[in-house]
Amino acid sequence: MILITGASGFVGSELVKELVKRKKRVRCLLRKKKDINTEVVYGDLRDKKSIEDAVKGVDTVIHLGALILGSKEELIDVNIKGTKNLVNSVDKNTKFIFISSIYAGIENSAYGYTKRKGEEAVKAKLNNWVILRPSLIYGKNDFFITRIIRARVMPVIGNGRYKNQPVYIKDVVNAIIKVLEKDVKNKTYNIAGPHALSYNKMLDIISEEFKIRFLRIHIPFTLINFITKIYKTMFRNTKLPLEQIQNITNDKTADINMAAKDIGYSPISFRQGIRLMGE
Ligand SMILES: NC(=O)c1ccc[n+]([C@@H]2O[C@H](COP(=O)([O-])OP(=O)(O)OC[C@H]3O[C@@H](n4cnc5c(N)ncnc54)[C@H](OP(=O)(O)O)[C@@H]3O)[C@@H](O)[C@H]2O)c1
Repeated sequence: MILITGASGFVGSELVKELVKRKKRVRCLLRKKKDINTEVVYGDLRDKKSIEDAVKGVDTVIHLGALILGSKEELIDVNIKGTKNLVNSVDKNTKFIFISSIYAGIENSAYGYTKRKGEEAVKAKLNNWVILRPSLIYGKNDFFITRIIRARVMPVIGNGRYKNQPVYIKDVVNAIIKVLEKDVKNKTYNIAGPHALSYNKMLDIISEEFKIRFLRIHIPFTLINFITKIYKTMFRNTKLPLEQIQNITNDKTADINMAAKDIGYSPISFRQGIRLMGE
């Protein structure tokens, strides 16, 4: 039996569909009622008792449940303490696939910090774990690229030459399934697209594939940095990802060779993924 946390989310919903297609025995941890075609258990990562009940009879966990946006305290509660609740509830030989983030390795934001601490908790307690670190995940109904497609006016912070390596949702799902099916353990894999692209290039590709013309407004990074610093001082518990905004001009690229070698990971290009979003 596979337990999936975060089953109602962007990645979780796609993953569950794929696992059901493959006739896997799946139990989804949900917080709210949702029409889902698998066994369901209700609970919250922050509630130890509900997690202890959720893991009963489970031999594999795919841990996607997390907060991406939130105050530092909220991120710590779900991404660190919640992950610890899960890790401490399962048998230490359970196959445990933890969906972390590229931010865990390259960025000093509250979100990246909590994903890194989550990784440490997994490694410290369990004998059979795999950590996947996706870059920016895009696909229908995602948080970021869908908004860009809908927007007509596009703010570009700084010169737009900083690089990202976005990954298509189905490539992330395929990577998780490969880890599930292959005999790999105790490894951390970057899961990103095949190419590093500047933000400007990403906008060019979206604009070409969707045949839309953005009005690009360049905002100096120093101005954004100044505003976010002031905002942070005034609203300490803000849910806005201010550190992620401050880090926006850092390159977020990743070497995917190890995933290619060990699990046959072979992602599609950003242009192909954007084309699929338009279909
Ligand atoms: N999206 C990206 O670009 C990206 C990139 C790199 C890594 N990741 C990682 O990939 C994973 C999935 O991301 P996603 O985009 O699918 O995120 P998402 O759409 O925001 O989904 C998050 C999921 O976590 C659940 N969750 C949040 N707090 C919870 C709690 N206290 N107890 C139980 N469940 C809780 C949510 O449940 P509710 O529906 O009840 O809120 C939801 O199912 C996350 O671990 C994220 O850090 C995402």
